[in-house]
Amino acid sequence: MIPLNKHTIQHHLTAHPAHKTTTIHLFESIDSTNRYLKEHPETQALEVCCAETQTAGRGRFGRTWHSPFGQNIYCSIRTPIKTQGAALSGLSLMVSLAVLAVLDELSSHQDILIKWPNDLLWNGKKLSGSLVELLYHNTQITSIIIGIGINVNSSACQDNSLDRPWCSLYDIFNQHFDRNVLIARLIIHLNNYLNTFMREGLSECLPIWKQRDYLSEQWITVSTPNGLLSGQAKGVNQWGNLIIIDETGHKHELSSGEVSLRV
Ligand code: BTN
Repeated sequence: MIPLNKHTIQHHLTAHPAHKTTTIHLFESIDSTNRYLKEHPETQALEVCCAETQTAGRGRFGRTWHSPFGQNIYCSIRTPIKTQGAALSGLSLMVSLAVLAVLDELSSHQDILIKWPNDLLWNGKKLSGSLVELLYHNTQITSIIIGIGINVNSSACQDNSLDRPWCSLYDIFNQHFDRNVLIARLIIHLNNYLNTFMREGLSECLPIWKQRDYLSEQWITVSTPNGLLSGQAKGVNQWGNLIIIDETGHKHELSSGEVSLRV
């Protein structure tokens, strides 16, 4: 397996303007790449932290992100930002689209889908997830940290230790990938999507979301801070909220929650 290498990642960035403003921090082992960037002094650069393994990788809802050594991508990107929280709603969706753009470069088959708000799935199995965190000074947001985990070269056939169905790029394409190239593409696409998002919000991204929405028209149950909600998924609105029509025909627009398909 090709090890991670800072210079190789930088080399694959050279043709892109993001190259000049990117600082890469690479570790053999770290507790969590998100945690590292949370505590690293803030700068005006795009700071990227990657590791071969994480000993305390974090997922959404307080879960652990399984991070076997040398196989997958565990990468966090921090960028300075001057905006209010409300303007950032939809950011998680934008991140999913940026990861999807990287994976779409590998194949013309568009069978990787997005599960709101930020999972990528193939055949209903989780391929990648992301965790967005905000840094504040007093009440002002100063930076965002986007942590991304992509299952690349590990194989679900050889490791069924996780309780939820998952898959990797290896499972999909039956070949191994150089993670350095994928990380460089991730930095480029995230940088481009972030710029578009800051200018125009989600509007430009919504048509792609519609084409690749795993939940569209599905009957689902969402676990929200206010309890369970069931209904039919009807896409997302311009702020990235999930639209659901419940059994009484009532429309709900959810900004957070964990979705499962109703069986
Ligand atoms: C999820 O789907 O629950 C989100 C998973 C996010 C995992 C990534 S791996 C790199 C970064 N560092 C972390 O500790 N978590 C994110």
